[in-house]
Amino acid sequence: MSAWAELWVQCRMQTLSQRHIIVAVTGSIAAYKAPVLVRRLVEAGADVQVVMTEAAKRFITPMTLSAISGHPVRHSLWDEDAELNMGHIELARWAELIVIAPASADTLARLAHGRADDLLSTLCLATTAELMVAPAMNHVMWAHPATRDNVARLVERGVKFVGPDNGALAERETGAGRMVEPEAIRDVVAEFFAETRGSGPLAGHRVVVTAGPTRESIDPVRFITNHSSGRMGYALAAACRAAGAQVTLVSGPTSLAVPTGVTRVGVQSAADMRAAVMSAVADADLFIGAAAVADYRPAQSAADKIKKTAEDAQLTLTRTRDIIADVTAEYPGVFTLGFAAETTDLENATRAKRERKKLSMIAGNLVGPEHAFGRDDNSLFVVWEDGERHLPQDSKQALARTLVEMIVERLADERATSNTDSQEQI
Ligand code: PMT
Repeated sequence: MSAWAELWVQCRMQTLSQRHIIVAVTGSIAAYKAPVLVRRLVEAGADVQVVMTEAAKRFITPMTLSAISGHPVRHSLWDEDAELNMGHIELARWAELIVIAPASADTLARLAHGRADDLLSTLCLATTAELMVAPAMNHVMWAHPATRDNVARLVERGVKFVGPDNGALAERETGAGRMVEPEAIRDVVAEFFAETRGSGPLAGHRVVVTAGPTRESIDPVRFITNHSSGRMGYALAAACRAAGAQVTLVSGPTSLAVPTGVTRVGVQSAADMRAAVMSAVADADLFIGAAAVADYRPAQSAADKIKKTAEDAQLTLTRTRDIIADVTAEYPGVFTLGFAAETTDLENATRAKRERKKLSMIAGNLVGPEHAFGRDDNSLFVVWEDGERHLPQDSKQALARTLVEMIVERLADERATSNTDSQEQI
């Protein structure tokens, strides 16, 4: 596993730390896997309380699960001692997630019909926590129209199904109905918390990304623009979000779908883009300028359509403000990744642009009919204070992930340096 993949898995697992999870065990032979699931969740730092149905206790003992979870196992709605400790309503409120593993066919039916005549079904009605079920049953039961109906109802209500797997079943038959392995359920649970509560190497970071072209108005029907499609910037916004950051995407006009979980602010001109960036970056610690911002705009935008009277027409252009240079000047603490769009001498031009704009990092690319603009792939020459790296031709998504990985490394280096500095001062 690469260092990056390992870091990613660690971050995913960290999301389980101190999470309040109820693992509910119901009557299925797969109940023998429940202690391993509880152990894996506890190992990852989760606080796990176990609930068992009466049928589950015929397969494994509460003693095993209470030893592994570190809490007494709850199995009755009518247990006075347990109710005095943490009443079932309190338990329902305590839970952030209820994982029913294994979930028998009977349990699915009871949940689908909103029953509340035992502890588990009552908890499921009384909680606002998410519900995840890992079914385990005979393959004919799983395929039965009654079970299919119950599953459809539960899915419609937002219950998350993990499995079942296809494979050898307890009755020496093969088919769909096998409970998913405990480690895989733990990973889905970690993924669930990562997605809903935010985690990853950029968790806690706020990122502003610019993407796409700008349009500089000549008159109400004409404008100056460029060939940027926004793909590179959108891929970066998605990669930052996947790494756990809160992302604001300031986008010029594009036809791209907004990546899930990303806030998009749509703009037209370079001036609009600057205003949106300067307002968003005040709360951010990372800025990525992938937009192809117009360097010049018409000095005046005519109020009415310019008539086609003269043979020649002149357009006076004026410089736009350099957004990324303004960000580095006003917010020196913000990590900045800029781009350099070049047609010749890529390496020297990229290095010079990083220096001139005082950027933390820059990614240079060749642009033109054959390169970068509008394409799904690209290649980059990345420069930072004490390093350079060529990223060969790859999809913009893959390049974006690598750039995020490189940013995470730089941020970690910066943190390590500032820790050493402050220790030396002491
Ligand atoms: O959008 P795609 O079709 O996917 O294409 C991707 C891309 C080629 C647009 C992208 O990879 C890219 O190179 N973006 C930067 C384009 C650009 O404007 O480069 P530049 O060398 O002119 O500008 C250097 C840096 O200054 C850039 O980070 C740019 O966003 C920024 N800039 C430029 C002008 C300006 N007024 N304000 C700025 O912030």
